[in-house]
Order: sequence, then C-alpha cells, then structure tokens
Amino acid sequence: MLVSGLFFMPVKNQNLAIIGAQWGDEGKGKIVDLLCGDFDVVARFQGGHNAGHTVRFGEHHFSLHLVPSGILHPHKLCILGNGMVIDPQALLNEIESLRSLGVQIDDNLRISESAHCILPFHAALDVAREEAAGPAKIGTTGRGIGPAYETKVSRYGIRIGDLINPPALKEKIDLACAEKNPVLESVYGKPKFDPRELYDRYLAFGEILRDRITNTCLLINESIAAGRPILFEGAQGTFLDIDHGTYPFVTSSNCVVGGICTGLGVAPKHIHSVTAVVKAYTTRVGGGPFPTELTDAMGDHLRKRGNEYGTTTGRPRRTGWLDLPLLRSASMLNGIDRIALTKLDVLDDCKEIPVCTSYKVRGSTWQTFPATTLAHHEYEPVYKVLKGWNRSTVGTRNFDQLPDEARAYVRFIEDETRCPISIISTGPRREETILR
Ligand code: GDP
Ligand code: IMO
Ligand code: MG
Repeated sequence: MLVSGLFFMPVKNQNLAIIGAQWGDEGKGKIVDLLCGDFDVVARFQGGHNAGHTVRFGEHHFSLHLVPSGILHPHKLCILGNGMVIDPQALLNEIESLRSLGVQIDDNLRISESAHCILPFHAALDVAREEAAGPAKIGTTGRGIGPAYETKVSRYGIRIGDLINPPALKEKIDLACAEKNPVLESVYGKPKFDPRELYDRYLAFGEILRDRITNTCLLINESIAAGRPILFEGAQGTFLDIDHGTYPFVTSSNCVVGGICTGLGVAPKHIHSVTAVVKAYTTRVGGGPFPTELTDAMGDHLRKRGNEYGTTTGRPRRTGWLDLPLLRSASMLNGIDRIALTKLDVLDDCKEIPVCTSYKVRGSTWQTFPATTLAHHEYEPVYKVLKGWNRSTVGTRNFDQLPDEARAYVRFIEDETRCPISIISTGPRREETILR
C-alpha cells in the first residue's frame, strides 16, 4: 500500500550511511524514508528503542523505534544488526502496531542472533539509577539501554540467539537475576524479578521471533557481494556517541559512522558515502552541555514551531541556535560527504538568526567543539547574526524558490562546514523536500 521509490539516484551498488550530526532527532527517519527507495537493504547498527524516527507522507504518520524506516517500502530487506540492544516485547509491539497501519512485515525483517536482549531488570535499573542520581541524572529514555550494553560488555549478556536455546536461556536468566535482584532490592529498594517467569516469557518471545533470527552479518555481506545497495540507518546522533559525545550525557553505543563496521560486521571499504542529517538549529533531550541553548521566549518559539517533543518519551526538547563547531567535529568524526538539512521552515519567523561560528576558550578561538574536555564555563560561543527571511518556506521543493536569505543561510553552512548540502527539508512530509 505504501508508495516506494524516489528521485535520488545513488551511484550503482553504492552503500550509504545516514547518521545524525547533532544530539539526535535531526530527522533521520524522514531522510532514510526519502532515500531508501533506491536501496535493497536498510540496516540499523546500534541503539535500541531509545530511538524514535518519524516518517510522514500524505496523511500517513509513522513512529519507528527498533524497526528500520525502510520497512515502509515494500521489498526492502530490513535488518536489526548485532550492535543493537533489543527488547523483544517492544519489538513485537512495534511490529503489531506497524501491521495495524497496513505495513507488510514478513520475511523482510531479520534480527541478528548476536544482538543483545534488553530484559525488564535492565529498564528497572536504568530508571532506579536515574531516580537515585537526582539532579545529576543523565535524562535517559528509561528503556534499559545503558544497563543492557553494560551486561553485553561484561560478557554475561543474553543474546537474541539465546531466546531459541532453552538451556542457555535458563542458565543466563538465573545468573542475571542472582546478580541484578540484590542490586535492585538492596541498593535501590525496588522489586526483584522472578527468573522462572522471565524464562517463560522470553522463551515465548523466541518462539515468535524464531524465523527472523539469523546470522545477519552473513546476510548483509552476501547482499554486498551480490551488489545489492545498502542503506545504513543511524540512530541517536554524533554527540550522543559513547566515545565521542558529551560524556557522560550520552547513550551507550557508537552512533558515529564507525559503529556500522562493528554493529553489522561490515568492512569500512563497503561504506561508500556518508550523509549527515543536520537540523537547521539545534536540539537535545535529556541533560548535558548545550552551549547554544536558548532558555528564553525564542527557545519556546522554536520548540513550538518545530514541535520539539520527543518521539519516544514525549519530553520537551531543549532548543538552541545552530552550532558550526559541533558540525565541523561531526564532519571530522564521520567523514561526511553530504548534509541533509532539515527543518529549515521552522526558522521562517525569525527576524535574525544567530549561528555559532567558533568558541572562545581561555583567550583562543576554537573552530571545533570543545565540550567534551572542558567545563561549561570555560568556553563561550561566538555568534554571527544572519538575516531571517520572514516568509513561509513550508513545503518548498525548489532551491530557487527559497527566499534569498534562506539560500544565504544554506550557503553559509556549506561554506563554514565545507560540506555540500544536497537535501533541504521544508516540512515533515516526504514530499516537502528540496533535492539539489
Ligand atoms: P529522528 O530521530 O532523527 O528520526 O528525528 P525525529 O523523528 O525524532 O524528530 C524529527 C521531527 O521533525 C519529526 O517530528 C519529523 O516529522 C519532523 N520533521 C522532519 N523534517 C522536518 C522539516 O523539514 N520540517 C518540519 N517542520 N518538521 C520536520
Ligand atoms: P533518535 O534516534 C534524542 C538521549 C536521551 C539521553 C541520552 C541517554 O530518535 O535520534 P539512553 O536512553 O539512550 O540511555 O539515554 O541519550 N537519547 C536520544 N536523544 N534522540 C534519540 O534517538 C535518543 N536516544 C537517546 O534523551 O539524553
Ligand atoms: Mg528521534
């Protein structure tokens, strides 16, 4: 039922990575949906149902959390890679809700046997820790992402493949409960989990998911060998990356392009180009440094006009001006070839648009983002004020039809980041897009 295919022509058999350049919610879902018509495979490589990717076209409106956005196009093979953490209950709920909206999900959705499971004690620990941290909390989505990745790295994780191996599943759930229950009860005063009940529940999930569980590493490399183009769908954003983000206010996976290699078992030479999704201003949800944040009426205006409320948790997103040092760092970390600039229309009413061009740090000027190593009060954003356009750009599909000032804004970002902007999004819908 859903319309497929668009006008973007990839170089034949070239694989494309789409990643977020800021703190998530840049509009990756829209851009993946826009471009994936020309790819055979769409694969997620990290994160879990902390992600919320919105796709809109015509009157359709989808929120995707675990399932790659390519699922809305018939005949795309969609893969949940080994680098993900998957809550089977959340996955089944999502599949059911997509089906109820008319989306076909059968053997077009495959799950890595090596991806790790999120169990209810992971989510309980996530929430309990955040409560205990008080004002120092990270502001996680409470989905258990951090604790699940911790268990993975501890080497006691329960993998998706274990769901169809009853003796292994039983042993691992017993062991996990023996460790996590005392922490939940004694450290946080929270209820414990019954290992037998969890075993029955997770075994049942395994039965339902059995036919989808496979060696996705092999599957994706067979696709590569067969010359079937692949689109890698990033979740979160560069500055939520566990290594390169604003630690500790980050997620627990590698959201940068390097995460594709480990999170899917794909060699770097098969990632042929990188498109970064950049919001025309900046948002983040949860705690952590945000140097260009607006806490005034303009911040409220951007939130309202941009409908900046989390797709996953509904929390209001923090809003601020565009940060070019952040984008320069993102370009360095990901080798960005092109930018897809989203939500340009949200700036339509701004008389002036300040853009952070550099940082003053202890008397010197920095062109890249300093927040990871320096305290918040040690750097100061330097702004250049650009003229607003005071005219609606909503739904514009032709670059030449944008107001002069909007074109100048786009060109300024290109000059300052040295990245071409090949897509400009002027509304949430698929069709509200300029391709250059
Ligand atoms: P993602 O996590 O990167 O996929 O982004 P989200 O879907 O969480 O958040 C982006 C929000 O902006 C969604 O509500 C989109 O429908 C919406 N959106 C995407 N592009 C545009 C645009 O160009 N203009 C406007 N006004 N909204 C957009
Ligand atoms: P998409 O894919 C925006 C943020 C949380 C929190 C931090 C850690 O839709 O862009 P976690 O639950 O991952 O341990 O939370 O990361 N966060 C996101 N922010 N978009 C996301 O995903 C996010 N996923 C996690 O708000 O600050
Ligand atoms: Mg989102």
